[in-house]
Amino acid sequence: MSLESVRYRPGCLAVLNQLLLPHESRYEPVRSLQEAWEVIRSMKVRGAPAIAIVGCLSLAVELQRIEVKEKDQLVTFILDSLKFLVTSRPTAVNMAKAAEELSVFVHLEAARADATSESIRKSVIQWAEDLLTKDVEDNKKIGDYGAQHLLQRVPGQPVTILTHCNTGSLATAGYGTALGVIRSLHMMGHLAHVYCTETRPYNQGARLTAYELVYEKIPATLIADSMVSVAMKEKGVSAVIVGADRVVANGDTANKVGTYQLAIAAKHHGIPFYVAAPSTSCDLSLEDGGHIVIEERPSQELTDVNGKRIAAQGIGVWNPAFDVTPCDLITGGIITEFGVFAPQELQAALTKVMKEKKW
Ligand code: MRU
Repeated sequence: MSLESVRYRPGCLAVLNQLLLPHESRYEPVRSLQEAWEVIRSMKVRGAPAIAIVGCLSLAVELQRIEVKEKDQLVTFILDSLKFLVTSRPTAVNMAKAAEELSVFVHLEAARADATSESIRKSVIQWAEDLLTKDVEDNKKIGDYGAQHLLQRVPGQPVTILTHCNTGSLATAGYGTALGVIRSLHMMGHLAHVYCTETRPYNQGARLTAYELVYEKIPATLIADSMVSVAMKEKGVSAVIVGADRVVANGDTANKVGTYQLAIAAKHHGIPFYVAAPSTSCDLSLEDGGHIVIEERPSQELTDVNGKRIAAQGIGVWNPAFDVTPCDLITGGIITEFGVFAPQELQAALTKVMKEKKW
């Protein structure tokens, strides 16, 4: 059975509390929008796609239980709820994009001649539930496009991949993005080894990615973030693949802090650097990465380990949770559910797809 970050059935949502992993697998109920906001903010659930999925499904759960008679009142409730959910974490674009799309959808549903509160409620619940299957489908496509691409780029011999943070089943509805590519390579027999970074200060790599790799029996080694350059020099790394919280129009990419230095080191060593991201993590409304809001997290994430202070008292702390990798360092490409694109091709490629789908 594969790992599940989210468990859902109509009216019932639970998330795997990722703060307790890898020691304990405990699902915690999410009964309201407020609880969803809190599990996202506290990072019990994290990862750009999972954040949006939990946010939207918490709205579905609320809609199952609330009593709203008036159509306009229901529409206002949905729009306000979405605005609230977007405030949970600022850098990953997925929740904001889902909120934008769902808001348009609600207006269209409400404008139908035969629309009732009940029809709007049902269609919004369905919209949120569809996110679960769509995310897994997109991740499998990302996995396959990425693996096929690497097969062509490094033919003949199995590849060694270095990855950062957690981008697997725990960060998504299932399969994962960068970890999805690794999974596909493994299934195709084309993976030699994975190096996963510890990912300080929150340790998504050591706690979550390492857990997923062990769980999936994928050959892997954990390294500290400060070891990436020497690993590239000595361990035969074929490519670096990371996820994304927001890819903007020119291809600049916000991802877990430490990604930027990884891309610089990869360029120095002539190792291709890839970002694996669904279109739900792409934000073509921002021209470049300078416009991305970077979340700053509490200082305790840096000063304390397991609730015990390890840093000297009185020291100042800066704890940005993400950094922006400039597009020119994304030398391998951006792997999406529509194919692999050079950063400068992404905007045109996604715009074309959206036109064809009449989004
Ligand atoms: O702070 P987190 O753990 O939510 O950050 C997660 C990342 O940076 C991931 O790389 C990104 O969200 C992609 S997950 C498929």
